[in-house]
Amino acid sequence: MDFFDALDKRRSVRAFTDKAVDAQSVKKIIDSVMLAPSAGGLQAYKIYLVRDKANLDALGFAAYGQECVPAASIALVFTADQKRSAAKYEERGFEFYSIQDATIAAAYSQLAATALGLASVWVGGFDPLEVSRLVKAGEYEVPVAIIPIGHPAESPERTPRRSLKSIVKEV
Ligand SMILES: Cc1cc2nc3c(=O)[nH]c(=O)nc-3n(C[C@H](O)[C@H](O)[C@H](O)COP(=O)(O)O)c2cc1C
Repeated sequence: MDFFDALDKRRSVRAFTDKAVDAQSVKKIIDSVMLAPSAGGLQAYKIYLVRDKANLDALGFAAYGQECVPAASIALVFTADQKRSAAKYEERGFEFYSIQDATIAAAYSQLAATALGLASVWVGGFDPLEVSRLVKAGEYEVPVAIIPIGHPAESPERTPRRSLKSIVKEV
């Protein structure tokens, strides 16, 4: 799929079929994430691959019962590795770059999934302590996003966008 087609086709999809995401696609998504920019090239994030049904259920529970999580074939949990970035960038790395590294990585995963004909949704509404506990995240790791991924069982319309005028300002 052309890059701009992937941008255009991506939607937040919250219903998935039972079909599993194959291992090759999982690898392609993760390989794509590895290409994302990161502060100082440090890749100050971690990715937890959740595939086990009971763990997906528990993750959904940690996301306040959002059904798109257990409905997916897999979920990727992105955490910011604050210490890794802080080792080079101190406070700025700890508070800011690590979060950005993890955020960009998660965004790449959604675009890669779309390009593979898969669907995903960004889940940011969750109990961070519970998610950390579930994935056994280390100290100074902040969960940034849960990205459930699967074969789409719905085709949502594009959601509205703000006008360019309200967002872009030439200075
Ligand atoms: C930071 C962030 C947090 C979000 N959290 C949730 C969430 O917890 N649950 C959910 O269903 N969608 C969540 N979304 C998805 C948005 O609702 C969605 O991206 C937005 O409505 C635009 O629709 P689109 O993704 O189809 O373009 C989140 C998106 C972002 C970027």
